[in-house]
Amino acid sequence: MDKPKVVITREEIANKVAELATQLRKDYRGKNPLLIGILKGSFVFLSDLMRSMNIPVEVDFVRLSSYGAGTESSGKIKLVKDVETPIRGRHVLVVEDIIDRGLTVRFLLDYLSFREPASLKLCALFNKPSRRKVEVPIDYVGFTVPDAFVVGYGLDLNEKLRYLPDLCVLEEQK
Ligand code: PRP
Repeated sequence: MDKPKVVITREEIANKVAELATQLRKDYRGKNPLLIGILKGSFVFLSDLMRSMNIPVEVDFVRLSSYGAGTESSGKIKLVKDVETPIRGRHVLVVEDIIDRGLTVRFLLDYLSFREPASLKLCALFNKPSRRKVEVPIDYVGFTVPDAFVVGYGLDLNEKLRYLPDLCVLEEQK
């Protein structure tokens, strides 16, 4: 396997998470927000973010997947695991590790908005705008990343490398 090369360090990530959490604390204080993580990638970011926010929040998860195999699938998204918490009237914050083509969050935002939340916003740690296929409004964003295959801090390559604490790209072994 190619050797992972660090592109965003764990310290840089921690600083950015703290910055996002400070803003979210101000915006959601007293609102008992429901943070919805998209499995699996977002669980690392979500767990750091909610602890850094340091206000009462609730947490739930969805799992979505693209139809078909391979890295470039058909673009159709299906819901594999739904939220278990009633959404109506709640302040919902979708928490995502990376937005690439935008298809996953576009599907989820449309799906959740039908359930009439009091508010619905999106927080993404990494954004890859060069790959976007559909427009998505990102209310809170950490880093813009280039069009390279990134792994670590929850992001995988065929289920491996999620555990890496830094964000890395894969470079060929010399
Ligand atoms: C990744 C990532 C996002 C999604 C972004 O998840 O965590 O959820 O792809 O892609 P998009 O913007 O092109 O729709 P993946 O489907 O690889 O599943 P995982 O989180 O379980 O790794």
